[in-house]
Amino acid sequence: MIDKNRIPTHVAIIMDGNGRWAAKRGLPKMAGHNAGMLAMKEIVKASDILGVKYLTVYAFSTENWKRSQEEVGGIFKLVVKYVDSELAELHQNNVKVKILGDYKVVPKVAVDRLEKSLETTQNNTGLQFNIALNYGSRAEIVRAVNNIKKDVENGSLTKDIEITEEIIGRYLYTGDENGNIPDPDLIIRTSGEERLSNFMLWQSAYSEFEFTDVLWPDFTPQEYERLIEQYQKRDRRFGGRK
Ligand code: FPP
Repeated sequence: MIDKNRIPTHVAIIMDGNGRWAAKRGLPKMAGHNAGMLAMKEIVKASDILGVKYLTVYAFSTENWKRSQEEVGGIFKLVVKYVDSELAELHQNNVKVKILGDYKVVPKVAVDRLEKSLETTQNNTGLQFNIALNYGSRAEIVRAVNNIKKDVENGSLTKDIEITEEIIGRYLYTGDENGNIPDPDLIIRTSGEERLSNFMLWQSAYSEFEFTDVLWPDFTPQEYERLIEQYQKRDRRFGGRK
C-alpha cells in the first residue's frame, strides 16, 4: 500500500517508448506520441490526487531536433492539441504550468499555447506541472553560467561574488524563474531504458530512480502508484549516515 504521508514532493518522468508502442501495433510513430500525450494527461491527474507537489515531464529534448521534420512538427502539434483540450481543466484544478527549457524557439503556434498556459495558471497554488521542452541539462548549466556572468557585468551580482551551489541552482530552469523547484525525489523512466539522457543532471544528485519496462503510452496511474510504493521502500541518506 502507498503511504499517503510519504508521497514524493517532486516526481520527474522520462516518458520513453512511444515509438516502440506504435511500431508494435503497426501504427505510425505519431500515433504513439498521441497515445503518450493521453497517458501524460492521466498522470497529471493522478499526481494531483496523490498529493505530488511538482511533476516534471521530459516532453522534448534539445537532441530531439535530430528526428524527422514530420515527427518534430507532430510533437508540437500535440502540444497545441493538449493545451487546447486541457488548459481549462488544469486551471480549474488549480494546476500551475511551467516550462523548463528554451521554448521560445519552437514553432510559434506552440509558443502561443505555452505562454497562454503560463499566463492562465500563474497564480494557481496546486500541483506545479513542469513541461521540459527543448530542454537539455548541459545547455541549462551553460546558460546558468552565462547568465551569472551577465549579471556580474550588469551589476546585479557583485564582482567579488563567491559562486556557490546555491547560486548556480538559482540560475537553472528549476531556479528563481520557475519558483525554485526542489530537486526531484523520484525520477521515473519507462520502456526499459536506464539512462538520464541529459535530463536534470544537476538536480538529480540525490534522486531515487525507478525504471519500468512499460512503454509510456501504456503507463497507468496503477503503475505509477506501484513505482511510488517501490520508492517508499528506499532508504534515503543524502550521503549521510543513518
Ligand atoms: C519518447 O518516445 C517520447 C518523446 C520524445 C516525446 C514525448 C512526448 C509526448 C508524450 C507528448 C508531449 C505532449 C505535451 C503536450 C507536452 P520515443 O519516440 O523516443 O520512443 P521510442 O524510444 O520507442 O522510439
